[in-house]
Amino acid sequence: MTNRMRRPLVAGNWKMHTTYEEAIQLAQGIAKGCIGLADVEVALIPPFPWIVALAEVLHDSAIVVGAQTCSMYERGAYTGEVAAFMLAPFCRYVIVGHSERRSLFGETDEVVAAKLARILAHDMTPILCVGERLEEREAGETLGVIERQLQAIAASVDPSQAERLVVAYEPVWAIGTGRPATASDAQHVARFIREWVAERYGERAGQGVRILYGGSVTAENASAFFLERDIDGALVGGASLDAAQFCGIVEAAQAAAQAKKEV
Ligand code: 13P
Repeated sequence: MTNRMRRPLVAGNWKMHTTYEEAIQLAQGIAKGCIGLADVEVALIPPFPWIVALAEVLHDSAIVVGAQTCSMYERGAYTGEVAAFMLAPFCRYVIVGHSERRSLFGETDEVVAAKLARILAHDMTPILCVGERLEEREAGETLGVIERQLQAIAASVDPSQAERLVVAYEPVWAIGTGRPATASDAQHVARFIREWVAERYGERAGQGVRILYGGSVTAENASAFFLERDIDGALVGGASLDAAQFCGIVEAAQAAAQAKKEV
């Protein structure tokens, strides 16, 4: 497969962390620390209540805002839900299918597919999370699990949309454990995802789709992932709550993008 330049993406998933004051400070610190790292797209994905304020704080920066999930329904009597159209004025990205939502909140492949369709319908970009659990990995089922998770969303995406998808490979056993995958294992799965997209939606989509690695990424280990051919950035949890750590990861992505350009 020929290599086309894809803009790297480093996204910080803040999960259910930060007070209002902490959120504003963190966003300001990251905006300051990322000045000049223009080869990399940076997205901050805070808890719902901080989205509007962050969009304002970041208005004059190149950093964009995302959401951690959205409703599978369009609108109506769904107490507690947040609809995709409500996020659209403020968010470029919405995470969908995160393993914490799949395992703790019972999100099935069907729910993930329905949410993904809403996100695309409102012109935002889904960050689709896929990844195997430890027992699946130990049983040699990693690629089978990834394929099932991709297959589940196939009907929600048409070929014209596939090119702008973001897929995050997040092995469940690497999330929040301090035990990241090796860069070569992550590359192996990223290549599989790219080939699946190319086969299903055509070569252009395969080349365009951005594939992130997520799971215990730090400023120290990020570079090895970013230098891999099919890894276009990271979805960062814990390390995204510290401006210096997170900006270190963005710097590593910038350096890798420069290195890849020279190849
Ligand atoms: P950690 O970076 O804390 O392992 O979390 C990864 C993750 O779940 C990002 O969505």
